[in-house]
Amino acid sequence: MAVFEAPILSTTDKPSLYRELLLQARSLMAGERDRIANAANFCSLIYHAVPQLNWCGFYFYDGSELVVGPFQGKPACVRIALGKGVCGTAAATKQTQLVPNVHDFPGHIACDSASESEIVVPMFDGHGHLIGVWDVDSPVLNRFDEEDRRGMEALVEAWIEHNDPTRFEAAA
Ligand code: SME
Repeated sequence: MAVFEAPILSTTDKPSLYRELLLQARSLMAGERDRIANAANFCSLIYHAVPQLNWCGFYFYDGSELVVGPFQGKPACVRIALGKGVCGTAAATKQTQLVPNVHDFPGHIACDSASESEIVVPMFDGHGHLIGVWDVDSPVLNRFDEEDRRGMEALVEAWIEHNDPTRFEAAA
């Protein structure tokens, strides 16, 4: 089995860096349909390759609320109601949330006091049903911009494509 070498990405020239990361993510998940396995490796890849992160991970929708899944970083709150915090807002509005300063976001849930900014991408199956959210936190204010949004959304799409869609329907 090949040892996977994660690239180290700088914050400059984000489009080409995210393109490279997308190739790495696709190759890491190739041939595997288990969503937990793919989620775990996906988190590790991004956490170690993207600079200035203190937490990244999945919250999966269990049909009633968001429940923490594979992640990298400090232990996190386990359950988040739809509409609560940044994650619950992304899930309820179906819109990626780019938060330059978490202290200005009403209802932000502080799992790691180091977090200063974050981006949360909601995830849907082929029928538009909520799967969960992808949450990325930084200890740096204003860390994420539109290029990070495009890059993270493309990565999340790749993660969804590499998983067995029936697993999501069963969970919803
Ligand atoms: N930031 C989230 C809570 C989850 S932790 O950051 C891991 C929020 O306010 O939704």
